[in-house]
This record gives sequence, C-alpha cells and structure tokens, in this order.
Amino acid sequence: MSALSNNLIQWHKDKGRKDLPWQISTNPYKVWISEVMLQQTQVKTVIPYFERFMKRYPTIESLANSSEDEVLSYWSGLGYYSRGRNLLKSAKILKQNFNSKMPNSSEDLQALPGIGRSTAGAILSLGFKAKAPILDGNAKRVLVRYFRINDPIDLTSTSKLLWKIAEDNLPEKECNIYTQAIMDVGALICTRTSPKCSECPLSKNCISFNENKQNLIPVKAPKKEKPVRKVYWLVLKNKEGEVLLENRNAKGVWQGLWSFPEFNEEEQRAKYAEQLPLSNPKSIENMRLKHTFTHYKLDIDLQSIEIKEKLANFDNNKLWFNNDEIVNVGIPSPVLKVLKKIKSDDKNCFLQKV
Ligand code: ADE
Repeated sequence: MSALSNNLIQWHKDKGRKDLPWQISTNPYKVWISEVMLQQTQVKTVIPYFERFMKRYPTIESLANSSEDEVLSYWSGLGYYSRGRNLLKSAKILKQNFNSKMPNSSEDLQALPGIGRSTAGAILSLGFKAKAPILDGNAKRVLVRYFRINDPIDLTSTSKLLWKIAEDNLPEKECNIYTQAIMDVGALICTRTSPKCSECPLSKNCISFNENKQNLIPVKAPKKEKPVRKVYWLVLKNKEGEVLLENRNAKGVWQGLWSFPEFNEEEQRAKYAEQLPLSNPKSIENMRLKHTFTHYKLDIDLQSIEIKEKLANFDNNKLWFNNDEIVNVGIPSPVLKVLKKIKSDDKNCFLQKV
C-alpha cells in the first residue's frame, strides 16, 4: 500500500468523519443521493436536504414513482436543479432495468444521467466497499499538492494524470475508508486557502509542503469575467394573498421550476402590467436582486404589483399559488427569497429589500 493511502486510512480511523447522515446504516442508494447533493454543495447545507429527501424517498422505487414537481420541491434552494431531475430519470431507469437496485459496475453507473466517473467511484467504494477511485475537487487539490503538480487542475491533461494517480494509490482493502479520508482531508485540512498542514497526515511526504509551496498550488487558471444577463420579473399578488408563478418548461437551468413571470425588456413588462387592475397604484414596489450561476450572472429587476381580482385567463404555464401550495413544487433560491419576504411583510408593503 502507498504511504499516501496508508496515512489517510490511519488518520481516518482516528480523526475522520464517521457520523454524517449518509454514513449511518449506509447503502449504495444513500451514497448515490448524498454524492449527487454534495457535487456542488457543502456538507452543512446538504444535511437537512438529505434527511428530508430520504424520509420522503427511502428507496429507489419510491423515488421512481414520484413526479418531477415533487422531487424538485425537495431540491428548492439547493441549486443546480438538473441534479434533481436526473435523480428522478435515473431512478426510473433503475426501476425498469435493474429491479430498483443500484448496479455495482462503473460502466452501468456512468450510463445513468448525472453520474460521472467520480460519483460512480464514490458509490462503488463507499456504497459497495469495492476498490474504485474518486476524483472530486477536494481529492484533486490533495493530490496536486502532495505530488506538486504545477498545471491548472481543470486541464484535460492534468485530469488524466490525476486519474492515473488516483488509480495507482488505491489500497487493496478498506477502500471505503480511504475514499472518505481523502474527501475529509481535502474538505477539512487541505483547504483551498490556509491549509492546516500541521494537522495533516500527509505532510511528511507532501512535496508542496516540504518546499513551502502549499499556498501556490493548485496554480490558478486566469479568471474569466462572467457575462451578465438582465431580466425583468413581475411579482403579481392578488387580494387572497396568492402569487402568480410560471413554470419554466423551456430548457435552461431552471427547467421544471416555478418562477415569477420574466421579461427580457422593461417595456414588455410595463405593457403587460398596464392591463392589470391595480388594487392601488401605491402597491407597486421596485427592487433589484443579483444571482450568480456557474457561467453567468443574473441581474434581476423586480416589480411587484398587487391586483384587485384573481385574473384567470393566464396562459396555461402560469398558476396562482398560496403558501401551502408553494412548498409542493420546485422554486429557485432568488424566487424563494422574494416569497419569504412576501410572507413575512405586512399587507401594505409586501416587498421590501430581500
Ligand atoms: N463530498 C463528497 N462526498 C462526500 C462525503 N461522502 N462526505 C463528505 N463530503 C463529501
């Protein structure tokens, strides 16, 4: 066994995390759900989402029998919603072709929507206790520091090299402990900034540490400015305290989620709003909101209007929601923030600064 894996395993037995909710009475299904939630999100954010999800969907079959609206309601606020949509798609495939069981081959796992090589490796090692490599962002950082690899992490050539290193360092036994250990060291010790090298089980053989270069590696690729997209939202509230939401059935990051009616131009929104029976011209409120995605930023100009009647003749992708109904569908974070504000404000001024 390499010194790397030996030191990681010994360290984990002593100091690693052992009581995360997906580690308790673990099984490949729990590992799958937790790994997908953890793909872009931190452990402390994931924990309550994971617990709610497992309570509602304790088995692959229960997930496969659900609807996209309901699955996304358990994802509201977690972001990267294609992960939730893919879980449902994959569960349906598992029900149909795998007798509602997780397959134990990397190939079958990677054929499922939303499961890449690293997630497949985590399911195999943590869920099935098999010998399989992972390479998530944290593991990459540990390995490039340990072996002092001077190339940016996300180059294809670096990734190829790291997968080879990850394979070569797998222990024959206790691969599940090894996998959890490299994730934990990456998350808790070998952090992006200010790594805690004095606490690290790998420092003795870590080339970056021994050359005092731990703060220079991974090398930073030049940062690209994200493009900004400006949109105009209309927050319509009726006298019964309901809000109008529209389903994003077009393809995009919020596909399948419910959001406020959106316009590309301020004039389009004004034209739309002109026809509405305002309850009181003073009920119009304006505000701004920003939201950052992986590839772009959204600059949201919001106008909220309270109207007298419950207009019924909207297109069929728009519906009025009351507070109870809203919890049953998927809502993106910035929309949730506004809705929470609406709920907590007094009647005359329902939308202030979020
Ligand atoms: N990040 C990804 N997988 C993880 C796991 N199993 N435990 C903690 N953090 C993780």
